[in-house]
Amino acid sequence: MSLTGKSRIAGVIGWPVAHSRSPRLHGWWLEHYRIDGAYIPLAVPPERAREAIGALAALGLRGANVTVPHKETAFLAIGDREPSALRVGAVNTIVVAADGRLIGSNTDGFGFLANLDDQAPGWRDGAGAATVVGAGGAARAVVAALLDAGFVDIRLVNRTAARATALADLFGIAVRVWPWQQRADALDGAALLINTTTLGMVGMPALDLDLKALPKTAVVNDIVYTPLMTPLLAEAQIRGHRIVDGLGMLLHQARPGFAAWFGMMPEVTPELRQHMLRSIDSEG
Ligand code: ATR
Repeated sequence: MSLTGKSRIAGVIGWPVAHSRSPRLHGWWLEHYRIDGAYIPLAVPPERAREAIGALAALGLRGANVTVPHKETAFLAIGDREPSALRVGAVNTIVVAADGRLIGSNTDGFGFLANLDDQAPGWRDGAGAATVVGAGGAARAVVAALLDAGFVDIRLVNRTAARATALADLFGIAVRVWPWQQRADALDGAALLINTTTLGMVGMPALDLDLKALPKTAVVNDIVYTPLMTPLLAEAQIRGHRIVDGLGMLLHQARPGFAAWFGMMPEVTPELRQHMLRSIDSEG
């Protein structure tokens, strides 16, 4: 669609930004909903991140997504932070308000929950115990979201115990660290298992985890989406678990930003998934 003088403009700030899938995703929605707007990649090196964020309003942009490695810088640079950002310590979505103020939020938790709601309806009914593998930024968003969803026993397992402890300390007693060596035992009685590490991604070893103790009713979710069917999900499926792939989280986390910048809440549809999968298949 060609642009006009009234086009609404948003983008993604990252370094490098060439691998970001967000322009493809937002571009599809803009086309699909026939919106006069554009979503552009903004390659910003670390030393210019604050300056670039500060310039969003002056340039008349509606806002931006923020990706690696700028999410923490954006958090520090923005005064108006929504609770979603405060809980995660990182901003991935910036909205320029009508008066030019920047509002920072983090939509990863929204994306995580909406993806499970979409792909595993009823998953919250079993809210009780959940096992989270990993202790990075993605794990922090997932843990916060699980607390919001009512989980009362969140078991954190991570190769580096100190990182898991640091993460658990940010939350209350509902989040407990289990030793990496005993990660298979941490599955006993869990309603949900989530991999938030990079294990299972193309070029990485698979997550080495014995699923024997996981109840058959448990849902297994991988945040990795390259490949879509990770070794963890493949094994979980063979064992009869409901599985949820990671592509949906990427798609759903983008929706609140699109709604704020372009004026309508977009949907995640099978056509959109196919469109995004074509780029994943060709790039690996
Ligand atoms: P993000 O912020 O995207 O979650 P990250 O902070 O780099 O990414 O976290 C990556 C996660 O993958 C961490 O939990 C990391 O474990 P460590 O804290 O021990 O580094 C985990 N991870 C990466 N490679 C791993 C491996 N070979 N074995 C076990 N865990 C691994």
